[in-house]
Amino acid sequence: MSNPILTAAMINKIDHCSSKFPVDQKRSALLMALRVVQDEYGWLSEQAIDAVADHLSLPRIYAYEVVEFYSLYRRKKPGKHVIKVCNSISCYLCASQDLIHLCEKKLGIKLGETTPCGRFTLEETECIAACAGAPAILVNDAVYHEEVTATKLDQILHGLTTNEVPND
Ligand code: FES
Repeated sequence: MSNPILTAAMINKIDHCSSKFPVDQKRSALLMALRVVQDEYGWLSEQAIDAVADHLSLPRIYAYEVVEFYSLYRRKKPGKHVIKVCNSISCYLCASQDLIHLCEKKLGIKLGETTPCGRFTLEETECIAACAGAPAILVNDAVYHEEVTATKLDQILHGLTTNEVPND
């Protein structure tokens, strides 16, 4: 069945996730199914959440419960680049608060906001398992940067602006 939100490729992935659970336990596939859709669109609109629940033949409220509980699901469209500054204990002890303030100043936005041009979204995150390199940031949920200084932050932002992400 065609769906304006779920492409055939997404449905294949969701069905693959769902197949790992007993038929009467499709609710268990919700986390992965929602992740599949978020990976594609970058966020989860109401239509996307509804589409996932409908595809799994689950009450829509189940999907909303998952999305609202886990902070890694996005309910707002993010900027092109999402910068997450770790603010858990190791990073906090290595001045992650200063790093957050520096990011806010350089980007001209507050935590949780997106720059008007749509290029950057700034968020804080719990530990990203780079404690030995605190303070650490995670870019686009994929690239780690450790021991981030003001100079290094400038390089990272410049690299993202020019699509030349410096190697870490
Ligand atoms: S506390 Fe920041 S990476 Fe672990």
